[in-house]
Amino acid sequence: MIETLRVELGDRAYDIRIGEGLVARAGAEIAPLLARPRVAVLTDETVAELHLDSLRAGLADTGIDMVSLALPPGEGTKSWPHFTRAVEWLLDQKIERRDIVVAFGGGVIGDLAGFAAAVLRRGVRFVQIPTSLLAQVDSSVGGKTGINAPQGKNLIGAFHQPSLVLADVGVLGTLTPRDFLAGYGEVVKYGLLGDAEFFEWLERNGPALAAGDVPKRVEAVRRSCQMKADIVARDETEQGDRALLNLGHTFCHALEAATGYSDRLLHGEGVAIGCALAFEVSARLGLCSQESPSRVREHLKTMGMKTDLADIEGNLPDADGLIDLMGQDKKVVDGRLTFIMARAIGEAFVTDKVEGAVVKDVLTDALLRRGVDPV
Ligand code: GLY
Repeated sequence: MIETLRVELGDRAYDIRIGEGLVARAGAEIAPLLARPRVAVLTDETVAELHLDSLRAGLADTGIDMVSLALPPGEGTKSWPHFTRAVEWLLDQKIERRDIVVAFGGGVIGDLAGFAAAVLRRGVRFVQIPTSLLAQVDSSVGGKTGINAPQGKNLIGAFHQPSLVLADVGVLGTLTPRDFLAGYGEVVKYGLLGDAEFFEWLERNGPALAAGDVPKRVEAVRRSCQMKADIVARDETEQGDRALLNLGHTFCHALEAATGYSDRLLHGEGVAIGCALAFEVSARLGLCSQESPSRVREHLKTMGMKTDLADIEGNLPDADGLIDLMGQDKKVVDGRLTFIMARAIGEAFVTDKVEGAVVKDVLTDALLRRGVDPV
């Protein structure tokens, strides 16, 4: 069973196809977009090893040739040197204006390949075939593309919408449990920000979904993508509502910076902890009930996920240090930090009126729960 969603963006509208076996039928899915039967695939070495032969066979089924470049896996690839290599390789492959670039990998490859497509010959079309849960529910949809700068994550980039997204839940089976659960952090985020009924569904079905239940995986990806598609259609370039998708991210970006963007904390793990902290701050401000943050943490714990600063190994800065790192966030406007707060589970809103003292108190208490002195 393959589900289809539409991201309604006028002449840049596109489908998100969700189901099992989409890599194997990639040729049939992509063929209607092609001016000639040839695509250039950007991927990473891990995904290439596991799935590139299936993609090649899936494309060959409809007579489509494929050239591919596999970059090293990991966040370090989202940088100028690898970006330059990818763009020059695409030019060497004589990829023309009417051709299609395929991003085949997780969020790093999707962001880098999308940005390469955005600037190549002033813009060529691209197709996202996301292979991580995080990329399937978040980064492959909505057209944010880019690379990191020494000054911070995702600071160089462009909005460039894909022409098609193929989310094959079958490939999620090769993810490590840790990577799967990190992606699940973004799934939970959707329930928390705008759909209490989805959060309840996740409370009931999360463990089965993590254990490999395919129909439940399809349903979780579908509901996540539907919410993202609706928000992106309302606010493509994040002038308003799209910022809701950043629930938990201001805390997350500070924690990622504090842990050196390393394996100590994966992005989705930081999002999960960030969501719990956002609900904690909301409760302290009297915006939502005291039970809400406990319920968020309870579900994350049931899933075996990180829920708190105490779950991050090694040193962390003190509360002021973390707040300084939040100040580097892209979401600072006129020196004021924007937060996503919540009135209840499923009712998030954007505000720049959060008292710094409350954020500091919540972080100080969370650091105390670690039982080690901050440095
Ligand atoms: N990941 C947040 C967004 O796409 O807006």
